Amino acid sequence: MQRADHRANLAERLVTRDPERAAVCLRDGGLAVIPTETVYGLAADAAQPDAVSRIFELKGRPSDHPLIVHLASADELAHWASEIPATALTLADACWPGPLTMLLRRSDRVSDVVTGGRDTVGLRVPAHSLTHRVLELLGDRGLAAPSANRYGKVSPTTAQHVLDDIGELLDPERDVILDGGASPVGVESTIVDCTTYPPQILRPGGIPTESIADLLATPLAPASGPSRAAGMVASHYAPSATVHLVDRRADAIAAADRFRAAGLAVTVIDGTGDLVRYARNLYADLRAADDSGVTDVIAVMPPPLGLGHAIRDRLQKAAARP
Ligand code: TXA
Ligand code: MG
Repeated sequence: MQRADHRANLAERLVTRDPERAAVCLRDGGLAVIPTETVYGLAADAAQPDAVSRIFELKGRPSDHPLIVHLASADELAHWASEIPATALTLADACWPGPLTMLLRRSDRVSDVVTGGRDTVGLRVPAHSLTHRVLELLGDRGLAAPSANRYGKVSPTTAQHVLDDIGELLDPERDVILDGGASPVGVESTIVDCTTYPPQILRPGGIPTESIADLLATPLAPASGPSRAAGMVASHYAPSATVHLVDRRADAIAAADRFRAAGLAVTVIDGTGDLVRYARNLYADLRAADDSGVTDVIAVMPPPLGLGHAIRDRLQKAAARP
């Protein structure tokens, strides 16, 4: 079969819009790529260690980088966490369903494969109608899911991104990609460690740090201690092109001119006029840069406010050398 035909055939066999098919596949121990409001996740039933192990293999991800468990609603918290501090209840109430992950002390039900042996678990109730339906169909099961990209690469915000990255690694006989359209937020969830007081932001994300501090009516502590280590590596979300960071659009244009004069193919990414759109399009823009064959991307850093924290974090990691 020609390569294009093979890809079309693979897409036809893997991609569905039917949440029931995804739920059946997860119950049977397969993997389902699920749409969320942040990015697409590569999910397994958190109670099936063999299925969860396949996630690590497929992503090429170290086994000590724990996975977030996705739940249908905050009512499930007590099954998965052994202690639920008041801060967690406040945040769950205000932010779920939505782009917030909370680290809590884990319950006995949480498998070591999911947490890499840690005594905490990351929990999140995503806001996407199809994935919500899958979770409802699965009853009190949770879905362990990292972003559905190969380790260290740019996260996917469409089903097509997923097909491009890991389509060949999925098995149409037992896995599925649930297509829920483009992810509206575009950057991952904000991760808050609620096992400390004040809580710490481990990863800035779709819910601005300032909103979390307002909700808790306390300044947040800087990230430190053992929770911080897992997966918080300097280089991540990295396209193949080299990413350069500048603070102003004028600097980007001047740098682009210099690169072009030196014979390099370069593109500028600047969404600083509208941070919601900047976040939503960031990963698609980084992928488009690679697809167009440029060697260098010059990105304009937004100010460190609101979604700007998450965009700056992802751009810094995209620019860091592995
Ligand atoms: O928006 C999101 O959070 C997406 C969607 C799919 O929900 N998920 C996501 O997962 O970004 P992932 O695995 O790509 O990033 C989660 C990060 C990793 O750096 C992981 O190491 C960290 O959270 N993490 C998860 N559980 C943890 C724990 N118990 N302690 C410390 N870090 C944890
Ligand atoms: Mg990820």
